[in-house]
This record gives sequence, C-alpha cells and structure tokens, in this order.
Amino acid sequence: MKQPSSSIDLAPTMAILEREGAGGRAQCIKILQELQAAYGYLPALALQYVADHSAISKRQLYGVATFYDQFRFTPIGRHVIRVCHGTACHVNGANRITQAIEELLDFKDQDTTTDGLFTLETVACLGCCSLAPVINFNDETVARVTPDKAQALVKTARETAAKEKTAKGESRHENPSV
Ligand code: FES
Repeated sequence: MKQPSSSIDLAPTMAILEREGAGGRAQCIKILQELQAAYGYLPALALQYVADHSAISKRQLYGVATFYDQFRFTPIGRHVIRVCHGTACHVNGANRITQAIEELLDFKDQDTTTDGLFTLETVACLGCCSLAPVINFNDETVARVTPDKAQALVKTARETAAKEKTAKGESRHENPSV
C-alpha cells in the first residue's frame, strides 16, 4: 500500500481552518471534507494540526472520519476505478469485473496498488443501470464492461504510466538539472 507521507504541506490545512473557523463539532464534517478535497485523503499530520488549533479533539475528528465511508486515510491512486455493484450491475457480472481487475493488479488487503497507480473501489448504483455493467474510470463512465475490457483499460493506463516514467528518466539523463 502506498504509505501516507510523513511530511505534508500544511498550508491547505491552515487555509481551511482559517476559512471554516476554529469552532467546534459543527465544522467537523466540513473541515474533513475540505481536507480530503485538498489532499485526496486525510493525512494524520493535518488531523493533528486541526486538533491542535481548534476546539475539535483528535478523538472527535477520527470518530467522525471513521464513521463515514467517504473518508480515507491513505493516498488515493493516480487512476481511480469504481466498479458499480448496484443491483443491475451485480446481475450483469460486476463481481467478475472486480475479480478481473484484482487479479491483474494483485490487490490483497489494500485498495490502492503499492506503486500508487490504481485505487479500486466498489460503489453503489452509478445511475445508468440501462448500461450495466458499468464502471467509472477516472470519472468517466464506461458502459457494458466486460472483464476483458476492464483489464484492457487498466493495461493501457499502466503502459502509459510506464512510458511516461521512461521518458522522464531519459530527459533527466540528458539534462541532470531537470
Ligand atoms: S446498478 Fe450499476 S449503474 Fe445502476
């Protein structure tokens, strides 16, 4: 699993606190939502900062954050794949799609690959049941997905990332100051 960073830029956290006020529990969810929007997850250091500079305790922050599914404590992958497991998608093979992606990317207990490239989530109805089974790949809806089609999307994204990495390495090699 990609580990949360041990040091983060706290400027967004400070700006959020300033905007939302250092009040009490009423602001708790709003602050958590804004932190997640800013960082993509809830960094422990940001939560500590909020606890140290507001009337909301660390216990309250974690209590609320763990209660709601929307919050996450680890960084999200560069590509986010959401497989719909609502009723229509379920009966049309959502499990096989999830399985195909899991097999390809070797997910174990984590939801983000160790290289931080992919996050896999299971979601409820995406609102386009007539197109089932559906996945959402980087915020784009992909209709009538098959396990092969899902794997092909992942492979393309992985190949593109590998090419970008190689290109970056080459340009660094040619120009060490990059
Ligand atoms: S059940 Fe999957 S889009 Fe509705």
